[in-house]
Amino acid sequence: MPLSKFVWFDGKFMTLDKAKVPITTHAIHYGTSVFEGIRAYWNGENLFVFRLNDHIKRFRRSGKFYDISLNFSDKIISNAIIEICKKNKIKKSCYIRPFYFVGDYGINLHVTEKAPTNVAIFIFPFGDLFNKNGITAGVVSWRKFSDMSTPPQAKMGGNYLNSIIATQEAKRNGYDEAILLDHNGNVSESPGENIFIVREGQLITPPLSSSALNGITRDTVIKIAKNLDIEVIETEIARSELTISDEIFLTGTAAEIIPVVAVDRKQIASGKPGDITKKMMKEYTGIVMNKNSDYHHWLTRVY
Ligand SMILES: Cc1ncc(COP(=O)(O)O)c(C=O)c1O
Repeated sequence: MPLSKFVWFDGKFMTLDKAKVPITTHAIHYGTSVFEGIRAYWNGENLFVFRLNDHIKRFRRSGKFYDISLNFSDKIISNAIIEICKKNKIKKSCYIRPFYFVGDYGINLHVTEKAPTNVAIFIFPFGDLFNKNGITAGVVSWRKFSDMSTPPQAKMGGNYLNSIIATQEAKRNGYDEAILLDHNGNVSESPGENIFIVREGQLITPPLSSSALNGITRDTVIKIAKNLDIEVIETEIARSELTISDEIFLTGTAAEIIPVVAVDRKQIASGKPGDITKKMMKEYTGIVMNKNSDYHHWLTRVY
């Protein structure tokens, strides 16, 4: 998908071709970048950024694990996100990618708050990531990295090598998406999504101790479910529990809520999106499109 013309780079708006970094940029060598993935939704009248403050909060927190500084205030970053939508005259649902990274810092592995960082934001119109009628998934042989090696709660460029190799294996085996197990062999998450299973009307999702990212869509689903009186349990999920689930779905900013209809070539229940999954998808769409006033506070108007 082509990127929108204007980007924001270190405090200024410029065209995409002007935003350049040197080949000595530390992040290219060592993955020392921090990013967020945010969506904004066009409902025919206005553009609404979904859970902007929560994304900004995680954006800053991710860098803290590694003392990588975000040298702009939350207010400046959130204004820049809104302004970049306006500047590109976006009147379609879109994906917003803010990121910061260690800049020109030689080959120094001792990254401190003083290491120079750059910050950028780009955006592009974005539709569905996956087929909303349901996808297939396969458990891959690669394990999700854990707090024993690097912090899974830091949304860092380098961490995504694990997601990339898992995706490659899943695609090679003919699946739409990968499911990674944690270091204990329990279900962790997908390369860019959290996972939920449904059993006997209850929603179950792995805890953060299973190396799952504290996903904002995961949190959204938990809150929606509670408001609908659907019980949510955060507990370890054994691999074989996937097969005996009534429903499975993935959650993520890019993927939104996506039904998984087969795992490891075994159909889940009827092999069709389940009732609770469909209910959550419907609620989510209503919320992001500003059709549900109970969740107004999660939306930031652009125009
Ligand atoms: C590894 C991983 N897990 C889960 C998610 C879902 O998180 P969110 O709902 O905040 O987009 C993402 C996407 O950001 C991710 O990269």
